[in-house]
Order: sequence, then structure tokens, then C-alpha cells
Amino acid sequence: MPTPGQLRRGPFAGSLPQMNGTLRRLLQTKPLAMLLQESAASRLKRALGVWDLIGLGIGAIIGAGIFATVGTAAAGDPSRPGAGPGLILSFVLTAAVCGLAALCYAELAALVPIAGSAYTYAYATLGELLAWIIGWDLIIEYAVGNVAVAISWSGYFCEMLRGVGIIVPPWLATDLRTGLATPSIVAAAPHIGGVPIMMNLPAAAIVLLITWVLVIGVKESARLNAVMVIMKLVVLAFFIVVGVNYVQPANWHPFLPNGWHGVWAGAAIVFFAYIGFDAVSTAAEETKNPGRDLPRGIIGSLIISTVVYIAVAAIVTGMVPWFELHTAEPLTVALNRYSLGWAAGIVAVGSVAAHTAVLLVFQLGQPRIFYSMARDGLLPQAFAKVHPKYRTPYVTTILSGVLVAAFASFANIEEMVDLTNIGTLFAFAIVSAGVIVLRRTHPEAKRPFRVPLVPWLPIVAVGACLFLAAGLPFITWMRFAIWLVAGMVIYAFYGYKRSELSRNPGA
Ligand code: ALA
Repeated sequence: MPTPGQLRRGPFAGSLPQMNGTLRRLLQTKPLAMLLQESAASRLKRALGVWDLIGLGIGAIIGAGIFATVGTAAAGDPSRPGAGPGLILSFVLTAAVCGLAALCYAELAALVPIAGSAYTYAYATLGELLAWIIGWDLIIEYAVGNVAVAISWSGYFCEMLRGVGIIVPPWLATDLRTGLATPSIVAAAPHIGGVPIMMNLPAAAIVLLITWVLVIGVKESARLNAVMVIMKLVVLAFFIVVGVNYVQPANWHPFLPNGWHGVWAGAAIVFFAYIGFDAVSTAAEETKNPGRDLPRGIIGSLIISTVVYIAVAAIVTGMVPWFELHTAEPLTVALNRYSLGWAAGIVAVGSVAAHTAVLLVFQLGQPRIFYSMARDGLLPQAFAKVHPKYRTPYVTTILSGVLVAAFASFANIEEMVDLTNIGTLFAFAIVSAGVIVLRRTHPEAKRPFRVPLVPWLPIVAVGACLFLAAGLPFITWMRFAIWLVAGMVIYAFYGYKRSELSRNPGA
């Protein structure tokens, strides 16, 4: 194995002597040998095998995306055209983009099996500043993504309760934008000092409940996840088997009512449905055989989800005219259209389980990224604490839970989905670029899994991610830019000074 000194060669290493100290620090990369030592010395409990990982992947992937956002993708909204039955092609297009990124993730996850995922890969390849930016960006994917999923969970959960005669008052299960714009909700809400009180209580409550499960232990969480994964696969298979009998082929004509533009805009939305395969990599330090099992977990979960999605997209657009699909519950709407209320009830229950699994895996991933960043000195040391009994990163688990619950109490789902998509596409692009850089800087490193056709395949992956991101509204790009600038300011005042690598370069 090369020494740390030999390994510490970032992409800009040749020009480092000429650079001033600040620039050199921003571009310094974390030695691969150091990362491998950290992985070997991890205090997290190694309990997960390949099926646990595929389960975690499917747990993270299948959720709000297929059960809720496909409605907007098919029918469009005032800011974008709908894909129509071309939703099927939106899923194929997005699967191709995610497949390219998944191969890149698989190579890096097997090479650097560290809990920090894309953040760690960037630290090893592109330098500390970009690593921080990615870590900061991943908060969008994991925490903001989960805010969206929690809100969608709340919608289906209230539907389920309604089915058994329990009505949650709308002011207690709404986001602020919708609540304030709906006179009936404002009128029904209690007022304090003339201000209507409204929040999404179920969304906050489920996040806090899951946080508690995650503090107790990762193996227990994986078991709970496995049960919910089976439930969601069974329910989607049930939807396909029942729905196929009610498909009206006329609904597939015209197939592309808004042309390729609709397919592209739809792909940028349904991308949300695929997010999650990368979350498998955050369990790297808890995996028994990461070199072999991480690539299988990442790619296996993506393939299974893709097959299910394409089938569901074909059925739902065959059952309902595409322009009537603009609803948060497209699958139950499709079944109710044919008076299949009993089937819609079953799908609603499965949907709640599906959402719960997504919440679980993302709440599992976010703290582990914070944990890695704290270990590197870019976040306070308290974030790297491991629970003495449960051996989980409990400080960051609780912090992530409280933050996500707080935002889920009032945020709007569509805004959260768009923001999650742009943040995740950015992370995928950086990870894909990281593969090329690491092949150049560390050609000798042991790679249990290798992306074919480097550099061409990762280059196409970067381009494909940017192409999808271009399909998102301008306001989303602005929000994302503001988020990144805020992150840079925090880095300038905290991480830059406290980074372990800068304070202790010979470690
Ligand atoms: N892919 C996840 C979902 O659809 C985020 O809920």
C-alpha cells in the first residue's frame, strides 16, 4: 500500500507549490490511506449484508416519488408541461441518468467505504472546499428530501385515518402556503392574537418517532425497513395486477401530448422517485463486506425500482387521462375512478409504509454524513459522538430529526421536491467527476468495482445530471445558489479554521 505522503496528490497537485497558502488549503485532498484507516477503525457496528443493503436502497427509493409526484409529472403544472403517457419515457430517461451515476457511486463506495458518501469521495478527490460544498449540498438531498417525504406521508396517513372514520382537522395537517391560501382552513384554525395557528403535526410526529428508532440501533432499523420494503413492493405489484384490467389504450394517445419537452420536464420531477440508491453508501461503515456488497446494494436496488416504476407509470397513465392526474395521490385516484375503493385503501396503507421506509433510510444517512464531517473538523466535535450502548451517532441523529421535523411542520412539498432534485443532481455530477479524478491521481488503488469506459461514461453522467437539472424551474436554481453561498460563509468562518487536515497535516 502506498504511503499517505505518496497518496496525497489532488488533481491540482502539480501546481500546488506555486499557489498561496489559502488556495492550497482549499484544494487539499484527504489522503486515501487515511480514509481507509478510518474505515478500518470505525466504531460503528458492522451488521449489514447485501440483502440489508438492497433493502435499504429500495427503502430509500420507493416512496413519495411514485406515490405522489408522478401526478404532477404526468399532468404538468402552471410552471411546466406534463409528460402525459410519455411519463413512461420520463422514467426510462431518469433511470438511465441514475444508472450512470449509480455505477460511479458503486466504484467510489467500494473503494472508500466511509459513512460520509459523496462528501468523503469529494474530499479524497477534489479538495476540502468542494467536499464541504458537497456535504452541505447533501443536507438538501437527505434532510430537505425527507421534509418532502414527511409531508407526503402525512397526506396519505390522514387519508388512511379518514378511511376508518378519524378526521384530522386540516389546520393540523397543512403546510403554511396551502393553509394560508385556503380560507376554510384559516377560518377553522384556532387563533392566538389574531394569528391563525396551523401546522403539519403528523409530518413532524413521524420524523421524531423514526429518530427514536434510529438512536436505538442500526440493525433494528434495518429489520423495520425490511418489513416496510416488502409491504411496498407487494402493494405496487397489487396495483399493477389490479390496474392492468382497467387500462384503456385510448388514454395512451397521444403518447407525447407536450412532445419531448414534456418528457424532459417530467423526468426532472420523477428524478425524486429514484433518489435513494446512493443512500446505501452511507451505511458503508456498518457493512460487513463493503467492497463486495456496496456495489450490489446500489445497483440492485436501482434495477428493481426501475422495473416497478415503468410498470406503474404504464398502468396509471392507461387508467386515467393524463391531464386528470394532477393530484397528490395519483394511484388511489386511478383506482377510485373505477370504484375500487377497497383496492385504493390497500394502496394507501402500502403508501404509508413506503414513505416510512424512505424517512427511515434518509434519517439514517444524514447523521452519518454530519458524523464524517465532524470527524474531519468541519463541524463541531460533538457531532462525532457515538452512543456508548447503541453505538449509533446519536447526537447527529437527534439533531437531524429535530431539524427535519421542524421544517416538515410548515414547508410546502413541491418547493421541497424541486430543491431536493437540484441538490441531488449536483451531488451525482460531482461524484461522477470524482471517479475520473481518482483514476488519474490514484490509479494503483484497489478497486473492488470498476466503472466501464472511464472517462467517457462519467463524463456522460455529469452532462446527463446537468441536463436533467436544467429542466427545473428558475426559482429552484436561485434557492439552490443561496443555499450554496450560505454554506461557503459557514465554511469560511468555521471549517476552514478547524479542519483536522489543516491543523494536523502530518496525521
Ligand atoms: N425516492 C424517494 C421517494 O420517492 C425520495 O420518496
